[in-house]
Amino acid sequence: MQKQQLLYKGKAKSVYETEDNDLLILHFRDDTSALDGKRIEQLARKGVVNNRFNAFIMQKLADAGIETHFEKQLSDDEVLVKRLDMIPVECVVRNFAAGSLVRRLGLEEGQALTPPTYELFYKDDALGDPMVNESLSVSLEWATEEQLARMKELTYQVNDVLKALFEAGDLILVDFKLEFGVFHDRIVLGDEFSPDGCRIWDKTTKKKLDKDRFRQSLGDVIEAYEEVANRIGVPLS
Ligand code: C5P
Repeated sequence: MQKQQLLYKGKAKSVYETEDNDLLILHFRDDTSALDGKRIEQLARKGVVNNRFNAFIMQKLADAGIETHFEKQLSDDEVLVKRLDMIPVECVVRNFAAGSLVRRLGLEEGQALTPPTYELFYKDDALGDPMVNESLSVSLEWATEEQLARMKELTYQVNDVLKALFEAGDLILVDFKLEFGVFHDRIVLGDEFSPDGCRIWDKTTKKKLDKDRFRQSLGDVIEAYEEVANRIGVPLS
């Protein structure tokens, strides 16, 4: 499958059309962004690490019966995916308090959230991805009530599968973000799952092993991604 027209250039991935109207190619770049794209740096190996990480996770989710857009890994930094009609909402599950939740409510980082909480954010860099809810998402016709219910159900299923996977590597899945789209009337998981879009801590030391290392300028960003990959069995070469 060959790359054709560039369809969209995101902050970390470029999306290309293919000769098949139902399929797209995602190219994982080394670009790393924070502050809604206002800070961008190149981190060597990131595209390759995230592509391999994502392929491994998408396969695990498929094995658990969760439909994803993943078709096959094409190269070190490219993947073939189904073309979804994306819903402009980010679905976040939090097992422990961190990030924007801590800032919003003044909570202590690491406070357990039992049961895990679920939040929606409108995907819009210019607006800083503001928090929204299901009611607004229906009123603004981003998705139907049924679609939003399915997204929530699937996001919690992903949490169950991945919490166990990371736990086996002595890692804590703190929180993560998913994006969904519609493929022939079905809600299907799209975008990516990599340390760019989740928080992962070492179970014992609570060391941050995700994109917070970049956001907070802690250093060794890709080394941390590789450590997580090694601990959960992602083949990196
Ligand atoms: O920033 P916040 O605490 O709301 O992020 C929750 C989770 O969603 C984190 O794992 C973060 O990496 C992810 N996220 C993301 N893309 C965004 C916003 C948040 O992947 N635009």
